Amino acid sequence: MNYNRVQGANNRIVLGLIGCGGMGAANMRNLMGKQGVEVAALCDVDTSRMTGDIRDVEKKYGRKPELFKDYRKMLERKDIDAIIVGTPDHWHALNLIHTVEAGKDSYCEKPISHNFVEARSMANAVAYHKKIVQVGTWQRSGKEFTDAISFVRAGKLGSKIVMARAWRTDGSKVGNDRPSAVPASLDYDMWIGPAKMVPYKSNHVHGNWRWFMNTGTGMTGDWGVHMLDIALLGLSPNNEDLAMPTSVSAYGGKLAYPTDDRTAPDTVEAIFKFENPDVVMTWSTGRDYANRPDCGVEWVGADGRCVRCWRGGWSVHEANGEPMDKEESPAVNDHWQNWLDGVRTRQQTRSSLASMAKTTMVCHMANIAYLSGETVRFDRSKMDLVGKAGKNTTSYFREYRKPYTLPIYK
Ligand SMILES: NC(=O)c1ccc[n+]([C@@H]2O[C@H](COP(=O)([O-])OP(=O)(O)OC[C@H]3O[C@@H](n4cnc5c(N)ncnc54)[C@H](O)[C@@H]3O)[C@@H](O)[C@H]2O)c1
Repeated sequence: MNYNRVQGANNRIVLGLIGCGGMGAANMRNLMGKQGVEVAALCDVDTSRMTGDIRDVEKKYGRKPELFKDYRKMLERKDIDAIIVGTPDHWHALNLIHTVEAGKDSYCEKPISHNFVEARSMANAVAYHKKIVQVGTWQRSGKEFTDAISFVRAGKLGSKIVMARAWRTDGSKVGNDRPSAVPASLDYDMWIGPAKMVPYKSNHVHGNWRWFMNTGTGMTGDWGVHMLDIALLGLSPNNEDLAMPTSVSAYGGKLAYPTDDRTAPDTVEAIFKFENPDVVMTWSTGRDYANRPDCGVEWVGADGRCVRCWRGGWSVHEANGEPMDKEESPAVNDHWQNWLDGVRTRQQTRSSLASMAKTTMVCHMANIAYLSGETVRFDRSKMDLVGKAGKNTTSYFREYRKPYTLPIYK
């Protein structure tokens, strides 16, 4: 990033966006509402996905953004300080590593990667190039979550926590489709990128890619990275030094929709064991959860008291279920402003890439355990799995489709 220029008279941060679909565009619009931000360029491999974003940028700045199909060309622009990565999961590692290699900061969507080895290399690349990256886990800036986490960290649930639970209902179906002609607006070869080439089907691409393990991570990566992240934060002293499990088992399958085209399981129960302190954490995704919100996190203390939080609220309960008094903590600034502040001051952001690499690895461990049917063990000192268990799964690592290669940072 051109640090001198950003610190200049107007403190302006010039942005480019890779992936103009749903969340990339939402992030861009949030950032366009902030002081000192300018969007200069947009990149998508499907021109039909860019129309609304081109219109909004032109309306805001009185000029069209420069348009790209190949993000590597956009990264050549020296005047762009930072990049929003809003592509599907299978592209994040290349998009982000190339972005920091080009000297730019990033607002990168979650889960940070398609697989475990990518996440580790991304974390090392960002540290090596000293870039400020905010991951799109905006729950870390949400009042209900920061309140609940502060309450648990302050020991108000009791000094010993014995269990954490995270869950999310999965009602997603992609149906069944046949291979068909690729729409003229889409460069499908570039959309598939480093993933395995498969015939084009309309239900595999935009939005739906998350339900295919070739391009996504299923509900465990898609929402586990939000809810398990909050569970981990409550077990950790701060946002950077995350508690990490020592072993993980997971069971599930395409149990609810066996004939659906999706390859990701619709039902998963994962169990994570932690040592020092001894805690058990679970991740559940399935059809429904009677009497509780469709997503949430709970921490349970040794005496049975419990803190529960979900999108929209949080509560504290006695062991018998009776509500207890809550104590709120001061509100924090929003997730996008927190990133802009970090870019300007070079201070760590609330969802740093280093910290979100850890949460993402925890999600991958559940997918690895599910895919392999093995209990996987994690060695924190090496940031790797122990032995061979799980390592032959694509959620651990896969060779990229040629000519793409993953830059490995150690
Ligand atoms: N933080 C959140 O709450 C939140 C919510 C939704 C999605 N997301 C994340 O945002 C990301 C995008 O999800 P989405 O639902 O918006 O997906 P989407 O499919 O709607 O959009 C992705 C866009 O990326 C484009 N694309 C694919 N490969 C590309 C490439 N090589 N170069 C440029 N463009 C490319 C696609 O054409 C598409 O327009 C995912 O990582 C997802 O997990 C985060």
